[in-house]
Amino acid sequence: MTGRQAPLLSVRDLKVVFPTPIGMVHAVDGVSFDLEAGQSMGIVGESGSGKTVTAKTLMNLLPSYALVDGSVNFDGRDLRALAAERKTEKHLWGVEISMVFQDPMTSLNPVKKVGEQIAESVRYHLGQTRTAARRQAGDLLEQVGIPEPGRRLDEYPHQLSGGLRQRVVIAAALACEPRILIADEPTTSLDVTVQKHILDLLDDLRTARGMAMILVTHDLGVVKGRTDEVMVMYAGRTMEEASTEAVFSQQGHPYTEALIETIPKINSASHTRLVPIPGQPPVTTSPPTGCPFADRCRYATDLCVAQGPPLTALGNGHHVACHTPVRTPAAETALAANAARGHTATGLEIHQSGVPIGAVTGGLGEQT
Ligand SMILES: Nc1ncnc2c1ncn2[C@@H]1O[C@H](COP(=O)(O)OP(=O)(O)OP(=O)(O)O)[C@@H](O)[C@H]1O
Ligand SMILES: [Mg+2]
Repeated sequence: MTGRQAPLLSVRDLKVVFPTPIGMVHAVDGVSFDLEAGQSMGIVGESGSGKTVTAKTLMNLLPSYALVDGSVNFDGRDLRALAAERKTEKHLWGVEISMVFQDPMTSLNPVKKVGEQIAESVRYHLGQTRTAARRQAGDLLEQVGIPEPGRRLDEYPHQLSGGLRQRVVIAAALACEPRILIADEPTTSLDVTVQKHILDLLDDLRTARGMAMILVTHDLGVVKGRTDEVMVMYAGRTMEEASTEAVFSQQGHPYTEALIETIPKINSASHTRLVPIPGQPPVTTSPPTGCPFADRCRYATDLCVAQGPPLTALGNGHHVACHTPVRTPAAETALAANAARGHTATGLEIHQSGVPIGAVTGGLGEQT
């Protein structure tokens, strides 16, 4: 008996499929994770990896034609069952689990004053009076660092800068004191200096409120030193899951390694985009039998093509889905063999150094 409490959120073997004209899109393909109360987790992966679909499942925001399987348990409640019953869970979505989206303009009503937008949520969900709700909206604007909150309450979204708008959205998401805040690329539409302020703000609010947070981003640099755990997704699957520290110091998945290589270095020229691996993530209308990353992986072997690697525990909560985890003898052997013949088992051409042809790594401008 460890006496350990059940996690606040527990997702098991989540699968989301969309019927589309090009076929069944397997957007999320068997994802599992736990989130403890007050814990923060990053979900990281390139565009199309299934991050937003995962987040929307937790928020009950999937379109009705989505086919969902697996379980989502929040504080002892079966969220999928609640969603299926179409109950108006007034005290759940938007209250206990709340979400901040990438573009603040999509979550704000352009013709309504920001104070009203926040107060509305407080009145609807918590049944507060108009005066109390307005007071709380002002307090929230102050908490998210908006100067002159009293004046801002009566402004419209277009009167605010992008950074202030995103602060308003965060204030609205926090209005009902959520136990989990999901922030989906909350800073992508903002310029770099504002990005850091918003991320730091989210961190401070999370700590002050003992709230759990899921930070969704395509940029591993955003979660570095920020979240407790990271789940790396690719083609709807979990490639690696570990403490954030372990992801950076001892990452096991070649995809994680490649994502780390895309983080711009301090001394690199600005505005230069690093491309670690040629190619793009697949749209998975027919999930591959092997590893979905094999096509772009410099370590890929015949086994990677033939068999999808299961997510395997390495200890300390570190899990990797790879036959040749980086820095293991298996990876070194695979890379040496691929470099010697000039290509991987999937035909990805690589240099003798092991760098895929067409990739830009490390410093900038060194197109190899
Ligand atoms: N409503 C939908 N109908 C059909 N396909 C969808 C729908 N929503 C998402 N998808 C597909 O599901 C896959 C995962 O999409 P998702 O939005 O979760 O990616 P993401 O990781 O959030 O990417 P991004 O970084 O671009 O936001 C993609 O292939 C996407 O095209
Ligand atoms: Mg997304």
